[in-house]
Amino acid sequence: MTDPIEPVVTFIDAHRQRFVDELVTWCKIPSISSDAAHPEEVRRSAEHLRAHLATLGATSTAILETKGHPAAYAEWKVDPALPTLLIYGHHDVQPIDPLPAWHSPPFDPQVREGRLYGRGVVDDKGQVLIHANAIEAFVRARGRVPINIKMLVEGEEEIGSVHLEDLMQREAARLTADYVVVSDTAMFGRGIPSLCVGLRGIAYFDVEVSAHEMDLHSGSFGGGVHNPALVLARMLAALHDENGHVTVEGFYEKVRTLTDAERAEIASLPFDERAWIAASGTHAAVGERGFTTLERLWTRPSLECNGLTAGWQGHGPKTVIPAFARAKVSCRLVPDQDPKEIAAQVEAHLAKLAPAGVKVTTHYIHGGRPYLAPTDHPVFEIAKRAFSRAFGKPTVFIREGGSIPFVRTIADVTGKPCLLMGFGQPDENAHAPNEWLDLENFHLGIKSAAFLYDELARTTHT
Ligand code: BES
Ligand code: ZN
Repeated sequence: MTDPIEPVVTFIDAHRQRFVDELVTWCKIPSISSDAAHPEEVRRSAEHLRAHLATLGATSTAILETKGHPAAYAEWKVDPALPTLLIYGHHDVQPIDPLPAWHSPPFDPQVREGRLYGRGVVDDKGQVLIHANAIEAFVRARGRVPINIKMLVEGEEEIGSVHLEDLMQREAARLTADYVVVSDTAMFGRGIPSLCVGLRGIAYFDVEVSAHEMDLHSGSFGGGVHNPALVLARMLAALHDENGHVTVEGFYEKVRTLTDAERAEIASLPFDERAWIAASGTHAAVGERGFTTLERLWTRPSLECNGLTAGWQGHGPKTVIPAFARAKVSCRLVPDQDPKEIAAQVEAHLAKLAPAGVKVTTHYIHGGRPYLAPTDHPVFEIAKRAFSRAFGKPTVFIREGGSIPFVRTIADVTGKPCLLMGFGQPDENAHAPNEWLDLENFHLGIKSAAFLYDELARTTHT
């Protein structure tokens, strides 16, 4: 007897090119969620996906509204006796600047040497379509998907999923599931199937230091008043000590100590630091003393300045002492740190660092909690099997330094672990110019998703 997955795999092989073409079409919609001037593009992207899913045998589809950008939703209800899988992804993308650094237009994706280049191709439209394509393969080749499937694709992930908790509360009934999978992470390296079992959280805020009502002449006032640019620079510089530790009081209080087993597992991965430095386009690996690079990125919290501005930035000189200086600051968090608590600690610390005579204002923008998966849950063995079947190699467990606020929230709501089955590459240029998707990974990703559904269909859910 032939394996009933065979026609599904054959379908995936036969439609390899069309799947790429459909991804290109969707990626032409510039769904930049942070671009307040063009919210209609994010809506168009949600509607495009919803309409596409409706043609793939979905039993219902919807646009789910939020106070910000909408999400697309679809459901394939086949049999209440079968388990239900919830797939989450996002259809919003990051801004494209600096535009001159792109080798081809960000919203006119092009294939070069087996890679598709364009904004959103891997983060996360390509990874959303991996699932849509696997679903299509089942529907066309076998008449239906082998389990019940729900798909939620939000439009605000890149700006901190600010309305997601509201939406999840409102749509709680729609989001119940036995299993949850998210494809929005990268693999450890080329061809290495990698299940991500930990994500860092985030706390994002801006800081303003102001000292005068307006800019002052630097000749008449220089040396006699505070300079907010220098004050803010000193304050930011004081947030780390010479060992790379964050100096904010209480910052490490809730950080779990790494166990020897965790350290050994991370050390067992074939990490080539030199190659990592080269691929990142940077020149050195630096950070908190006492930890390896992977430990720093995956298991330790960080505090970074994401942007800094003050005073004259135009062409040529202008002799002023700026009235204010501003910084965007964010912390990546690990269990059991809490975003609001950390933001409050940083705010208090900055207030203490400020000299008399300046005003410091901190404004919280968004936050997301960290996630660490219970890897002894049986679903991880199932996912490993599916992933390895597609890629023909053993699956490794990794963590990531990035954040996906949905993950921890859904794990809490459903009480089920969230599978992070990602198909990106560590040097995929996500958020940067020339973002790319490895088309072989895209193809094998579709097969991995199909194998995952197939394996889940054989489980008895509780
Ligand atoms: N795909 C990323 C998450 C990610 C980043 C996974 C790095 C693995 C490595 C996601 O789209 C993202 O960029 N998330 C934001 C979330 C934030 C705005 C709350 C992030 O991590 O900055
Ligand atoms: Zn992203």
